[in-house]
Formats: sequence, C-alpha cells, structure tokens
Amino acid sequence: MRLPKKKAVVTGAAHGIGKAIAKRFAKEGAAVCILDIDDRASAEVVAEIEKSGGIAYAIHCDAGDSKQVNAAFDQSIDSMGGLNVLVNNTGIIRQSSVIDMAEEEWDLIIRTNLKSVFLCTQKALKEMIPKKEGGRIISISSIHAVISEPNCSHYTAAKGGIEGFMRTVASEVAPHRITANFIRPGATYTELTIPMYTESVKSHSMREYPLLKLLKRTGSQMLRSFWPVMNRAI
Ligand SMILES: NC(=O)c1ccc[n+]([C@@H]2O[C@H](COP(=O)([O-])OP(=O)(O)OC[C@H]3O[C@@H](n4cnc5c(N)ncnc54)[C@H](O)[C@@H]3O)[C@@H](O)[C@H]2O)c1
Repeated sequence: MRLPKKKAVVTGAAHGIGKAIAKRFAKEGAAVCILDIDDRASAEVVAEIEKSGGIAYAIHCDAGDSKQVNAAFDQSIDSMGGLNVLVNNTGIIRQSSVIDMAEEEWDLIIRTNLKSVFLCTQKALKEMIPKKEGGRIISISSIHAVISEPNCSHYTAAKGGIEGFMRTVASEVAPHRITANFIRPGATYTELTIPMYTESVKSHSMREYPLLKLLKRTGSQMLRSFWPVMNRAI
C-alpha cells in the first residue's frame, strides 16, 4: 500500500476521474473525503469504498463557494483526523464560440474549474503548513491547457490558469515540504465528455488522430496510463 494512514480530500469525486482517484487512494490505504455537489452519487462511492474495506466520507461542497469549501474542509479534517493530500479535480465543460459565449457561462466555468482550485488549495495549506508534516496538492488540468479546439476558450483559460497557479504555489510551499503539481489528462471517457463525442466528432477525430481509437475503451482502461503520473505526484 502506498498511502497507509494518509488523509486525502478529492473534490468532484462522485463521478469519473475523481471517483477513480478516490477509490484508488482508499485501496492504497488512505482515508478519503469526497467533496461534491452530487450527494447521492457521493454516497454510492463511499458505499463502494467501505464495501472493499476502505475509509471514506461524503461531504456536500460546491468547490467554487468559499463558505462551503471552508465548512467542508473543517468537517473533512474532523472526520479523518487531519489532511495530507488534496486533489483538486472538480471540473465542468460547456461549449460556445467566443462570439456567442454568455458572460454567465464564462463566469461559471472559471468559478467551478479555476476559482475552486484557489479556494481549496488555500484552505488545505492553512491546515497543512501549521502542522509541519508536509503535504501534497495535486490539481487536474487538461490537455486543453496546451492544445486548442474551438468552442471551449473558457475551459482552456481555466486549465491554463490552473497550471500557472500551481507553479507559483509550488514555489511558495516547497520550504514547508509540501509539493504542488498538476496532472494534464488527455481525453477520458466520462460523463463530462461522453456528450461531446457525437458520431461526426468521433469519425472526424478517428480520421485525424488515429490514437483516439483508444477512446473506444472504457474510462477505467484509459485511466491505466494516468496512475504512473499520479504516483509521481503523490
Ligand atoms: N474526461 C476527460 O476527457 C478529461 C480530460 C482532461 C481533464 N479532465 C478533467 O478531469 C476532471 C474530472 O473530469 P471528469 O471527466 O471525471 O468529469 P465528470 O463530469 O465525470 O465528474 C466531475 C465531477 O465534478 C462534480 N462537480 C461539478 N461541479 C462541482 C462543483 N461546483 N463543486 C463540486 N463538485 C462539482 C460533479 O458532480 C462530478 O462528480 C475535471 O477537472 C476535468 O476538466 C477530464
């Protein structure tokens, strides 16, 4: 086991990549708090982890709301008895061209995908630094931070913002034996992306990018290539 007695918060862990991270961390011996807005799905993840002998808690939290973040972290730290690892995974996507994009949609993506990373990282560091036990902060970026496609300028801006933010955090917290990293996954079949893979997008993508044939595999198979990177960040 790689994470015995560690205490981890994973945001947006009721579904998709975050759920896989929470389950993997629990299997590796960590207690895990799932912070998400989908309470029913969070409870199902907790039940799955407990059934396998792990320790997990579901805590309602809109990761873009500072009051909810502060309360959820306090509850997480109380439940687990501390905090060693934060994974900022919460993310949503919408599709609009710049010219058609509503201000509300821009604000929603930046708040959910980027501001959430600031709020959760700041709150985690306020717990980790005084404890003097080091720690790990990991944020889930995206290949979209560096490769552009039409109709997701807000998502791309948020992911680019996460990477710049994490580089600065890393330089600030290194003296406290806390590492800050981002992971930049490529396309992974989850509820976030399935609606984007329409038949025409799929056939265009398969023609242009033969490696995307991998998308035919399930999310968990795709995630196999994710773990070697996560193992270095943790
Ligand atoms: N799926 C991909 O292809 C892909 C590729 C690169 C990066 N990513 C990134 O990985 C992360 C996870 O994506 P996914 O594909 O697993 O998505 P998903 O839609 O399967 O899961 C996202 C989770 O975030 C939760 N969530 C949404 N808004 C929230 C909020 N305000 N507060 C707390 N939780 C909230 C949802 O309830 C859900 O459980 C995201 O940051 C995404 O940008 C995904």
